[in-house]
Amino acid sequence: MTTPAFSAWDHQMMSRALQLAAKGRFTTSPNPRVGCVIVQDGEIVGEGFHYRAGEPHAEVYALREAGEKAKGATAYVTLEPCSHYGRTPPCAEALINAGVGEVICAMVDPNPLVGGKGLAMLEAQGIRTRHGLLQTEAEALNPAFIKKMTVNRPFVRLKMAASLDGKTALANGESKWITGAAARSDVQVWRAQADAILSTSGTVRADDPMLNVRWEQLPPSIQQQYPRSELRQPVRVIVDRHQTLTPTYQCLREAADPVHLLHLGTSEHTWADNIATHQLADERIDSVMSYLASANLNHIFVEAGATFAGALLAAQAVDELVLYLAPKLMGGDSRSLLGALGLSAMDQVIDLKFTDVRLVGDDIRIIATPIYR
Ligand SMILES: NC(=O)c1ccc[n+]([C@@H]2O[C@H](COP(=O)([O-])OP(=O)(O)OC[C@H]3O[C@@H](n4cnc5c(N)ncnc54)[C@H](OP(=O)(O)O)[C@@H]3O)[C@@H](O)[C@H]2O)c1
Repeated sequence: MTTPAFSAWDHQMMSRALQLAAKGRFTTSPNPRVGCVIVQDGEIVGEGFHYRAGEPHAEVYALREAGEKAKGATAYVTLEPCSHYGRTPPCAEALINAGVGEVICAMVDPNPLVGGKGLAMLEAQGIRTRHGLLQTEAEALNPAFIKKMTVNRPFVRLKMAASLDGKTALANGESKWITGAAARSDVQVWRAQADAILSTSGTVRADDPMLNVRWEQLPPSIQQQYPRSELRQPVRVIVDRHQTLTPTYQCLREAADPVHLLHLGTSEHTWADNIATHQLADERIDSVMSYLASANLNHIFVEAGATFAGALLAAQAVDELVLYLAPKLMGGDSRSLLGALGLSAMDQVIDLKFTDVRLVGDDIRIIATPIYR
């Protein structure tokens, strides 16, 4: 029998570090969510998580709490400790200076500036390192950071709401409200985690939405952990290639929160100061993705209609689909969930892997990952 690389205790400690890391899910971007637990003689002596870019990393908070007890201790970190000087000194150095005996991390840092160098620094000082413990769970905490670091593209989560027969609006365009209050509150949680909400001229013209986070609509458990004063409004990015929008729409009137309007040519209107216009390189979805990456908007929540959703999926730009299915039937002449994909053979259909299915209020919420060919 082979000895398992990690014990049940190791799993327990890394689970705690992952729990701590998740506390940063509304605030750390563009930095990753990271948690750290320091254990001495079977007892947790220090805990920490990264809260916001520019503030100390998880290891620093945990080491501060551990003090002298960090000597010879085991540090469990959800991401490889950094090895480079950013806005804060390298965490690998802090762990070395504190005299820890072993570092166990869930995943190696996909940041090419780190990429194993943090572990090498520790090993070079005689500190034992192991990695790969609860790696899948750690990766799930940081999809946007990983995608940015590996392919320099944003992580795109597409939200759609439909009746059980896959319809998003009546034939006359009426669509409010298909889903219930709990699902709409759930949407606020996704919005609050995103760097940007991506929408379109079509949706703004049809619904005149605000596309912001409404703290009072977040579930009470999240309000407790994420006070109103800490609320970060995601940037609103609106694709308006052919300049059909005017400053009269709610989200384009003067307001403090930023909006990025993406056009094909130079803008024909004078906009309020919070609205920045950008010229897309061309008509393709990839030019939108390329703009988002260049603006360091890495975690995107898409709220748009069937046309844009279909275009995003056809361009293989969607990483995750969040689909709310309401217990309603809207009938054959209502509008479908997706615009025409123009498929003519079954081997062209987009396959999905369901990763989570649950009831949210009276609605079904399905989270699925497209499997592109
Ligand atoms: N159920 C839901 O989850 C949900 C969510 C939001 C909206 N809606 C509903 O959806 C309806 C609006 O849907 P819609 O289909 O008219 O609008 P849409 O899908 O939101 O947006 C379509 C627009 O996106 C722009 N676009 C940019 N790049 C594109 C590309 N590569 N390919 C195609 N279009 C691209 C085009 O406008 P430009 O050419 O001007 O760029 C196009 O007219 C409304 O009734 C709204 O209530 C439903």
